[in-house]
Amino acid sequence: MSGGALALVQPLLRCPVAGHREPRGLDLLDGGRRLRCADGHSFDIARQGHVNLMGGVAAGANADTAAMVAARERVHDAGLLDLVGGALVEACADLGEAARLVETGGGTGQHLARVVAAGSQRVGLSTDVSTAAARRAARVHPRVASVVADSWRPWPLLDGRVDAVLVVFAPRNAAEAQRVLRPGGTLVVVTPEPDHLDGLRGRAGLMTVQADKAERLDEQLGGRFEPVSRHAERRRVELSDEAAADLALMGPNGHHTDRESLLRRRPGGPVTLSVRVARYRRSGA
Ligand SMILES: C[S@@+](CC[C@H](N)C(=O)[O-])C[C@H]1O[C@@H](n2cnc3c(N)ncnc32)[C@H](O)[C@@H]1O
Ligand SMILES: [Zn+2]
Repeated sequence: MSGGALALVQPLLRCPVAGHREPRGLDLLDGGRRLRCADGHSFDIARQGHVNLMGGVAAGANADTAAMVAARERVHDAGLLDLVGGALVEACADLGEAARLVETGGGTGQHLARVVAAGSQRVGLSTDVSTAAARRAARVHPRVASVVADSWRPWPLLDGRVDAVLVVFAPRNAAEAQRVLRPGGTLVVVTPEPDHLDGLRGRAGLMTVQADKAERLDEQLGGRFEPVSRHAERRRVELSDEAAADLALMGPNGHHTDRESLLRRRPGGPVTLSVRVARYRRSGA
């Protein structure tokens, strides 16, 4: 249960309410039913196990909807994103058995669960601005906790306690990643390559998403992170209409279309999955 997972990550958590003179941690109270800081700010843990640490700020329009989250869950369950999960496990292989990991914009938490499961005492925290996603991530693994938080705002995490931050197809806040990581900590970033979803794009009428150039990413992180390694993963798959619709629906297009409209286009057929996995080390002491 995720009350249990929140207890595991509790030493990492920081009160999200602005205006504290010094950072405040959060304690678990009432038998794991709420979190509270020493100044009395209190956050109820939802029945499903996640907790909202937005600090009173409303979620933006970029939060994935319940339909998008359900589509993402089916795509993960079908093993279509195994190439990403496997690459993440590999990128985190030397973190040790007891590493503390955070995935921001973690969605359903399924990638993080896989990396956490690779170490017998690893713990993970998935953050996402979408409540539907946070609800799903809360039950993904007994050692993965789930929090609603906005990556573009201060993260609800204390300084320097995290061993690795993962960002997979989600917003990258380099300053906050640097702040929460311990010196020498690891950042793993997964981004789409220009040919990602080739095949599906035309059939499903997807918007073109501009792929980030590798150099641009290094530049964005420069000063805070040093590049350690970078490689591409590519796979060609043959998808049914249903699986192809899910793949289209779980991304940014899910905000603009629905399953029925996608299925009418008969989106099934060959699809290229193509991502870049980049690993960085936190600079400085
Ligand atoms: C493309 S999905 C990737 C999910 C997950 N990392 C995966 O690869 O399966 C992007 C996720 O980022 C979340 N997201 C978008 N903007 C965000 C923000 N500002 N802060 C936190 N999460 C955000 C969405 O709700 C969605 O769950
Ligand atoms: Zn507080």
